[in-house]
Amino acid sequence: MTAASETPALPAARPAGCPFDPPGNYATLRETAPTSHVRCPAGMDAWLVTRYRDVRAVLADRTMSSRGASSVHVNPNADLDEEVSPGSIIQLDGADHSRIRKRVIAEFTVRRVEAMRGYVRELVESHLDAMLARPGEADLVRDFALPIPSLVICELLGVPYADRSRFQRQSGMLVSTDTTREERQQAYDELSGFLAGLFTDKQRNPRDDLFSRLIYRGVSSGDPLTMEELVVLGLSLLVAGHETTANMIALGTLVLLEHPDQRDVVLSAPERAVEELLRYLSVVQFGVLRYATADVRVGTRSVKAGEWLVAALNSANRDEELFPGGGKLDFHRESPRTHVAFGFGAHQCIGQQLARVELQEALTRLFRRVPDLRLAVPRESLAYKHNTLVYGVRELPVAWG
Ligand code: HEM
Repeated sequence: MTAASETPALPAARPAGCPFDPPGNYATLRETAPTSHVRCPAGMDAWLVTRYRDVRAVLADRTMSSRGASSVHVNPNADLDEEVSPGSIIQLDGADHSRIRKRVIAEFTVRRVEAMRGYVRELVESHLDAMLARPGEADLVRDFALPIPSLVICELLGVPYADRSRFQRQSGMLVSTDTTREERQQAYDELSGFLAGLFTDKQRNPRDDLFSRLIYRGVSSGDPLTMEELVVLGLSLLVAGHETTANMIALGTLVLLEHPDQRDVVLSAPERAVEELLRYLSVVQFGVLRYATADVRVGTRSVKAGEWLVAALNSANRDEELFPGGGKLDFHRESPRTHVAFGFGAHQCIGQQLARVELQEALTRLFRRVPDLRLAVPRESLAYKHNTLVYGVRELPVAWG
């Protein structure tokens, strides 16, 4: 292993100029040191895996544990030996993971999600009505990108949207990379307490929602989830369900404002356009963490059991071998779905179909209804989320008319 002082840091700063390019110089790394050691903010060294095919191989490898997959590597205050909570779907391995995943996967099939498209469309339209009823300016994050995925996930799970101020703040703390251990714990405890109350209520008064079904399917199958499992799983779904998509809607809008020549493809072929936006933006910006439980080769490197690996999704998604001219947004790519923005393998994103429907509806309807949408401030004044697991823009002041 490289001497500690020589180990470079995990790339975190984005190059000046294009806010959509990933941190660090991944293009050079993919050429010269595709799997190399980095020092992570959490203090440990990890293999940074940058090539598309190696990233897929790591994520498909069943000997790789996901126990750090809440991205502990990017939080300087993380506890690397923290026990995995029962129900933490993203961190569980093997049979423990399948037991939890199979409870929710049926809720997110293409058919189930397509059945929600009409509801998503109505939400998008009503938010556009409200936005356009005001005189010519809005913050697209606050008025559009954040409320839509929040409302959708609340409706699906059965979480009262009126409680959003509680869970949005706590969820923001959980995805921030610079919260202290105490702040994280407090956010986690508050959100868990809120969800425990909700599950207790649903045990008594079941409704037609995912949380109620999680309780009652478990009972009828003879393998009910414990309250702790329900709460932790509920928390994962709630946080994952709105942070990622909200950032994609806002950042996707910004990209389209900067590429007016490509906007007509969003209207004519939204599926294709959304896949390319997912690849190009790769909002899960610090990669996903794995822990080797066996010796394994990654490309030309030998990784030992007990070592950490970071699968850099954003680098893989720009790998020229798969995506010629990968640094450019191009809605006419062949096989636009080969990207790994939703991960790969056993933990591949459970909510990907839902995210696709939300992005397709939000972006097409926004640009159809507001063809003259424009930034209301100079682009240089926008602030980006450099210190959260999911990249995005903090506010997006827009104008029209
Ligand atoms: C554009 C939006 C989204 C992006 C980019 C995204 C990205 C990802 C990625 C990269 C992973 C894999 C993590 C790993 O392998 O360690 C993942 C897993 C997951 N995502 Fe998403 N996600 C999005 C939307 C959603 C939505 C809407 C939900 C809804 C509930 C969701 C729920 C989950 C869950 C529960 C997992 C863990 C699955 C498992 O471990 O088996 N995500 N997501």
